[in-house]
Amino acid sequence: MQKHVYIETYGCQMNVNDSEVVAAILDKEGYAYTEDISIAHLILINTCSIRENAENKVFQRLQEIKKLRKLNESLLIGVIGCMAERLRDQLFSLDVLTDIVAGPDSYRDLPNLVSIAERSKQAINVHLSSTETYDDIMPYRVGNNRISTFVSIMRGCNNFCSYCIVPYTRGRERSRDVESILQEVTEAVSLGYKEITLLGQNVNSYNLEFQDSVIRFPELLARVAREVPETRIRFTTSHPKDMDDKLLHVMASYHNICKWIHLPVQSGSSTVLNKMERSYDREWYMQRVQAIRTILPDASITSDIIAGFCGETEEDHKDTISLMKWAKFDLSYMFKYSERPGTNAARDYNDDVPEEVKARRLQEIITVQKEISAEQNKRDIGKTFEVLIEGFSKKSSDELKGRNSQNKTIVFPKKQAKVGEYVMVKVTDANSATLKGEIVDPT
Ligand code: SAH
Ligand code: SF4
Ligand code: F3S
Repeated sequence: MQKHVYIETYGCQMNVNDSEVVAAILDKEGYAYTEDISIAHLILINTCSIRENAENKVFQRLQEIKKLRKLNESLLIGVIGCMAERLRDQLFSLDVLTDIVAGPDSYRDLPNLVSIAERSKQAINVHLSSTETYDDIMPYRVGNNRISTFVSIMRGCNNFCSYCIVPYTRGRERSRDVESILQEVTEAVSLGYKEITLLGQNVNSYNLEFQDSVIRFPELLARVAREVPETRIRFTTSHPKDMDDKLLHVMASYHNICKWIHLPVQSGSSTVLNKMERSYDREWYMQRVQAIRTILPDASITSDIIAGFCGETEEDHKDTISLMKWAKFDLSYMFKYSERPGTNAARDYNDDVPEEVKARRLQEIITVQKEISAEQNKRDIGKTFEVLIEGFSKKSSDELKGRNSQNKTIVFPKKQAKVGEYVMVKVTDANSATLKGEIVDPT
């Protein structure tokens, strides 16, 4: 009988990509990937530890999955990813009765862990590696949208921002071999993908020592862009400390490299940034934004912001708001600070901003960002963009949606256009979330 694995993914895009690596590994061992949980013999939950509420969501979901086991005693349940790494064998003592625990660097061992679990034993591997990049594994690309996909170029993180759990759950930074990146990129293109996002926690610190030379991110990006000149290339995430002009010039030189930079600032206060151990201050960040505006005048800039970090004063919070207004982020992901056990911030500082103050500051930041996004999007009215069509709009099957180079979503009447094609779209209207437009002739 064919066995099936169902994988549910939480957290960042790297987890989405890892789930596809896991699906590819298990497929070879006779577990076919399914999106139908009711036929699964093995359920894997790929988890995230970035904030306390990310973990709570997974705990709740595990309670629901527990009910499925009541219906099927031989069902195997595994927790993989960042929570597996952080909580390890504590996950076995949950009343969910987890069978398998596997951290982000032990997915090659999953067939072995599954076979141990099949013999009614609990199986765990949370070993972190300094070399694993899964470079020889072609991810099993999930979903039927063959338009946009992701290719991992590095794993782990060495930055140890004081609030962040990632260096502990994902281990040390390591860069994937260039040839294997190029191979995966070309394979994705031959499968029909039209847009590829290069992935890593901090892509600008890509650093591959190779024979007598070193390949850094700008060279890698240029090589990828040359290898598949008809394919759009994006990358995320960039760390401001490593965002150099060389990279911006590479972006300017290749038409297929998208003009979008996700450059998380976290806070606009130098005092807070220092305590966050981000290795840059407000002035450095502003100077990087200035460089982007000069070298890539059409680029969009997006950000991540944390409200209510340890010791954050009202003045610090105002500095964040003033920086947001100055930088004119097209979009930001905004979070309340959540203390993570074992991080430097948890050890060195008190989580002393009261919950209601964090909530209020977050709300203020969200409101300001919405205004800036609306303003930025309104500036696009009248401009024409090349859009890669990704699907139908949520509202109507007469409308299509896609993104421009700046990663903004544009919705427009279908006319003769088809999903997967490029069209030129003139923006006619905009709000804080979406642009609306009309297809125009490519003149
Ligand atoms: N590598 C990326 C970010 C990965 S995590 C970078 O360095 O920019 C995504 C975002 O989650 C972070 O940018 C940060 O804004 C947020 N985040 C991380 N740890 C957090 C914590 N403990 N509490 C709240 N937000 C956090
Ligand atoms: Fe976390 Fe900082 Fe690494 Fe990003 S760069 S993953 S925020 S430690
Ligand atoms: Fe979450 Fe791990 Fe990604 S903590 S954000 S899934 S690297």
